[in-house]
Amino acid sequence: MYNKGTIIPGLIIFVLFVTFPIWFNRLTTASDLPKPELPPGGEKQCVMPADYMRANHMKLLNVWRDDVLRESQREPLEINGVQYTKGLQTACLECHSNKEKFCDSCHNYAAVAPYCWSCHLAPKEAASKEAIQ
Ligand code: HEC
Ligand code: HEC
Ligand code: HEC
Repeated sequence: MYNKGTIIPGLIIFVLFVTFPIWFNRLTTASDLPKPELPPGGEKQCVMPADYMRANHMKLLNVWRDDVLRESQREPLEINGVQYTKGLQTACLECHSNKEKFCDSCHNYAAVAPYCWSCHLAPKEAASKEAIQ
């Protein structure tokens, strides 16, 4: 009536086929979400709650830029008793000092390349410039 020799391998192929999305995602890195490294200095709090930052940090940076450059609002912010000057290098990267393992880990994943770094210096570049002076 039926042929065991083809049914079993047929079933195996069928199961592999329908479960393809599951094992394919496990075997490839396609589903590896980025794990941005939290501040190496041990700071525990961001300038806003993490959920807000995750979704809105780019908007906040624009607000900060306008505050500083257009409104001359340079008064420092205080987080856990430490004062930070509003700014990309002076606040964000003061805590998130490893740009590669923090900012870039997400940006590479999401294929965004903020153009900020053609003018603003990441900590490593800033350090090498200081060394030259
Ligand atoms: C063409 C050069 C240039 C580019 C590109 C640029 N900036 Fe700036 N940015 C400046 C200059 C110059 C200042 C003024 C620094 C000062 O007066 O303290 C500044 C100041 C700022 C400040 C406020 C103070 C500070 O030192 O951080 C923020 C925030 C800022 N920029 C964010 C950004 C962001 C975010 C991007 C990318 C989306 C960006 N900028 C791209 C030149 C640039
Ligand atoms: C005082 C130190 C400090 C400063 C300044 C700071 N951060 Fe943070 N940031 C943190 C900490 C600590 C966390 C993790 C907070 C948590 O998990 O509750 C965080 C979380 C984040 C997250 C979410 C990360 C994730 O895992 O989803 C983003 C995005 C972020 N910060 C971007 C920025 C940007 C952009 C700036 C500048 C506008 C900035 N941060 C300034 C300390 C800081
Ligand atoms: C949790 C992941 C994550 C982290 C950490 C993160 N970003 Fe982003 N960032 C994103 C995503 C996703 C976008 C694109 C959002 C969009 O296009 O709507 C983005 C966009 C931006 C933009 C706007 C770029 C553009 O061309 O529109 C800037 C500026 C920016 N990020 C700065 C930073 C800086 C500076 C840091 C580190 C201090 C940082 N981000 C850390 C996920 C992250």
